[in-house]
Amino acid sequence: MALDVALDIGTSSTRLATNQRGVIFNEPTLVGIDTSTGEVVDIGYGATDLVGRTSRHVVVFRPLEKGATVDFDVTARLITTLFERAGVSKLSRARVVMSVPSLATAIERRALRQAAVQAGAREVSLIEAPIAAAIGLGLPIQDPIGSAVAVLGAGASEAALISLGGIVTSGARRLGGNDLDNAIATLLRMRQGVVVAPATLEMLKMTLGSALGSTNGGVEKVPARTVERGEPVEVEVSAELVNQAMSEVVAQTVRLIQECLADAPPDLSQDVSARGLTLVGGHALVNDFAELIAASTGVQVVLAPHPDVVVIQGLLACLEEMSALHALFRGLDD
Ligand SMILES: Nc1ncnc2c1ncn2[C@@H]1O[C@H](COP(=O)(O)OP(=O)(O)OP(=O)(O)O)[C@@H](O)[C@H]1O
Ligand SMILES: [Mg+2]
Repeated sequence: MALDVALDIGTSSTRLATNQRGVIFNEPTLVGIDTSTGEVVDIGYGATDLVGRTSRHVVVFRPLEKGATVDFDVTARLITTLFERAGVSKLSRARVVMSVPSLATAIERRALRQAAVQAGAREVSLIEAPIAAAIGLGLPIQDPIGSAVAVLGAGASEAALISLGGIVTSGARRLGGNDLDNAIATLLRMRQGVVVAPATLEMLKMTLGSALGSTNGGVEKVPARTVERGEPVEVEVSAELVNQAMSEVVAQTVRLIQECLADAPPDLSQDVSARGLTLVGGHALVNDFAELIAASTGVQVVLAPHPDVVVIQGLLACLEEMSALHALFRGLDD
């Protein structure tokens, strides 16, 4: 069986799957590079471990921001390293399917394509994330009915209504889970005069945050440093503060989905009312997000199980479909 590869490079996590082994990489989008030699030292969790621990030559890069590649060179190295792990190289080329946010510019798409070819792709297909998500969910996107999905990631959020194999209406913004973490950081600095670690911000969001603003009197004690002197302290953070910080980004995300659905032609709109909208992406896991979106759109909303791997599963399904078609064409040639 020829090797086919699926790749979903996200702002916070990257996933790689092959037709032979399934998902083999689902780790942070981090690349540790030795700046004296230009070599990649490690990627993903391995690069997390390098932060602050190795020689001053090693720098850990995060090549994506807000769903967009901000460092093409580092992204290309990430792709090369990932392909090596999958067994792809210039000598052993593979067919590659990659997801891109619908907001990706033509320059970015070309750069990703080029990087994949340089790393050993024989042919590269780019698929917009909402389409990949809908395929991963097994929605009947080729049929003349409307399927609605929202992909809520760390750096970008997009909603799409799909029918007859294409996007009919959509909405996308460079806004996601990272913006919630940043908003919580800002409010903590302003209100309590402290700075907390990124992992703590994420934990606060997951445990205390609610899109509906429900608090249940929740409080977490977390380690922090004072803004003034940098002294280590322990602070109590309330669910009220977290919810207040989150409210603006949450509202903007809801608006994006509302606008996408409002633009739908009436018959497709009816399909969405009947069949609902599915949320995917890690940011969709914010507590009560599905409930809030349902209440604000009047549409039934379902959170996909394992929402962070739906896109890569959709890409894998595309590969299978492509192989089946290729086999068919080979059959015709015989
Ligand atoms: N239980 C949870 N509650 C709230 N947020 C969560 C939860 N689990 C993960 N997240 C958030 O989901 C985001 C990661 O989602 P995902 O992996 O889909 O993003 P990505 O694909 O890396 O980014 P993008 O597609 O936007 O470039 C992070 O911001 C993370 O904090
Ligand atoms: Mg993503």
